[in-house]
Amino acid sequence: MVQPGLSSPWITDPFSRPPDVGKLGTMCTLDTRRDVAAPPDGLLFLGQLLREPRHVGAVAPSSARLAAAITAAIPEQGDPVVVELGAGTGVFTEAIRGRLHGRGHHVAVEVNPTFAALLRRRFPTVDVAEADAEALPEIVASRALTAADVVVSSLPWASFGAGTQDRLSRAVLGVLTPDSVFTTFAYAHAQYLPSARRFRALLAERFEEVVTSRTVWRNLPPAHVLHARRPRL
Ligand SMILES: C[S@@+](CC[C@H](N)C(=O)[O-])C[C@H]1O[C@@H](n2cnc3c(N)ncnc32)[C@H](O)[C@@H]1O
Repeated sequence: MVQPGLSSPWITDPFSRPPDVGKLGTMCTLDTRRDVAAPPDGLLFLGQLLREPRHVGAVAPSSARLAAAITAAIPEQGDPVVVELGAGTGVFTEAIRGRLHGRGHHVAVEVNPTFAALLRRRFPTVDVAEADAEALPEIVASRALTAADVVVSSLPWASFGAGTQDRLSRAVLGVLTPDSVFTTFAYAHAQYLPSARRFRALLAERFEEVVTSRTVWRNLPPAHVLHARRPRL
């Protein structure tokens, strides 16, 4: 069935030739004024995956179930500073916003300009930083904040080399206090990849406690949430 607002011949006619991968990003460019012109998130995500496979690192946006599990560390009281890394199309952004209910400060960091534009349009009350998470200490300082209470990451750690993992995890540590929590997720099928094991070893080295959740099966693909506490600062 043709979805309203989608004009691509690739979608309306299943037998037509798919577009060049290079052009897919242009097709997915958002019209920030009208929802009807925006492609569904899954298609947008796929387009960006084809353009930036190492950065996007996932075949589809995360599920609401994974979002609930990864945001559970956000306190229900007070005015916490919550930093989100790799917000994508905003599944976790929505869950964080729901937990905060207007309290505290929510910074969503996203390096991809197409996703950043979507986030700004979709979440006008969220502070969206179009930037590389490696600049996290500068991003936080530029908002006159001193630290983050919770960092919720969906960066594709297992897609990164050792140098990038090291720089990004140092940037995260640079905004934590001894009481802060760092949460992230890892795909269950990829947990034994050398890069995934290297990242887990890095977490164990830099935090006193790392707790892995049960598998969240309602996610494509199934994933675990990692809660890291008491950073070794
Ligand atoms: C696996 S996707 C997760 C998207 C979304 N949070 C979700 O769960 O559906 C990873 C996201 O991290 C972003 N990203 C990758 N490297 C980044 C970096 N160094 N700084 C900021 N964002 C980054 C990608 O552009 C992408 O949006």
